Amino acid sequence: MLEKIDALLVEVQNFQSSAKDEIEQFRIRFNGKKGVLNDFYEFLKQVPNEQKKDAGQKINTLKQAVNGKLEELKTSSESSLILEKEDLTRPAFPLELGSRHPINLVKNKIIDIFKSIGFAVADGPEIEDDWHNFTALNLPEYHPARDMQDTFFIEQNPDVLLRTHTSSVQIRYMENNEPPMRILAPGRVFRNEAVSSRSHCIFHQIEGLYIDENVSFADLKQTIQFFTTELFGKSKIRMRPSYFPFTEPSAEVDVYWGLNSETDYRITKGTGWLEIMGCGMVDPAVLKNVNIDSDRFSGYAFGMGIERIVMLLYQMSDIRMFFENDIRMLEQFKTL
Ligand code: PHE
Repeated sequence: MLEKIDALLVEVQNFQSSAKDEIEQFRIRFNGKKGVLNDFYEFLKQVPNEQKKDAGQKINTLKQAVNGKLEELKTSSESSLILEKEDLTRPAFPLELGSRHPINLVKNKIIDIFKSIGFAVADGPEIEDDWHNFTALNLPEYHPARDMQDTFFIEQNPDVLLRTHTSSVQIRYMENNEPPMRILAPGRVFRNEAVSSRSHCIFHQIEGLYIDENVSFADLKQTIQFFTTELFGKSKIRMRPSYFPFTEPSAEVDVYWGLNSETDYRITKGTGWLEIMGCGMVDPAVLKNVNIDSDRFSGYAFGMGIERIVMLLYQMSDIRMFFENDIRMLEQFKTL
């Protein structure tokens, strides 16, 4: 009986097929209930004990050969199935690379610039209460920003509204942290304004806040100058006195854009100067509202509209383009 094994081993090794039913027949012939291997196991029972070990080993060799062959046939028939289904010579799907929205591109640039001088990014909700958007920022009750005409109210008494500026994040951050603090708060803001090429009811701002001991207006000016140099390559700035309820003194910052081209004349209205942000020293009344000792600490804050800056950098003329998400506009930012 055992002498048959060598011939069977050759048979197993030589068996080749990719036809499913032939493979199945092969399996049944060797591994089936009445198959060759079971015959050998039956036979093994009658083998005298002292020969059992040798006989068992031979049978086992055959068993392994059979199982190895079945495994081999299985994987090759699987891969031939894949080959039949897929045309591997077809050109691959092109991987469409998306592009970042210009608002995000510029926002990230601004964040990088301020990160390099120690500012961290902070976040706040777009739906705000009266305290964080107005009262804590020293905005008096009769301030026009509190008017229905300017603000989208969600509920009244108590007021719940869409934040009109990112300055609300100043308050939230100061309430929950101890000085020194140096943060940048980018985000969407909402104002009840007629939509035109220059204004939109939704836009983006970046707020900056720095509170520490001995922070001065000179620090503010230096920081802004560093920023305009990094972002625009322009270091000439001027600060015009202005008014915000939450800063004292307050200023508008203009950057000297120059008058080198016709576009420069157009966007600066012939002056060469461009307004880029509002800023000032945080009003001690605001510090008091968030329980920061205004005798010991002082600080500055600034806020800028991102759309305006994007329009400047990329010479875009209509703010509505940012919200229409026209793919033809977005695709132009692919390589940036
Ligand atoms: N929140 C002001 C605005 O929306 C900008 C600003 C921020 C001014 C911080 C001063 C300080 O116009």
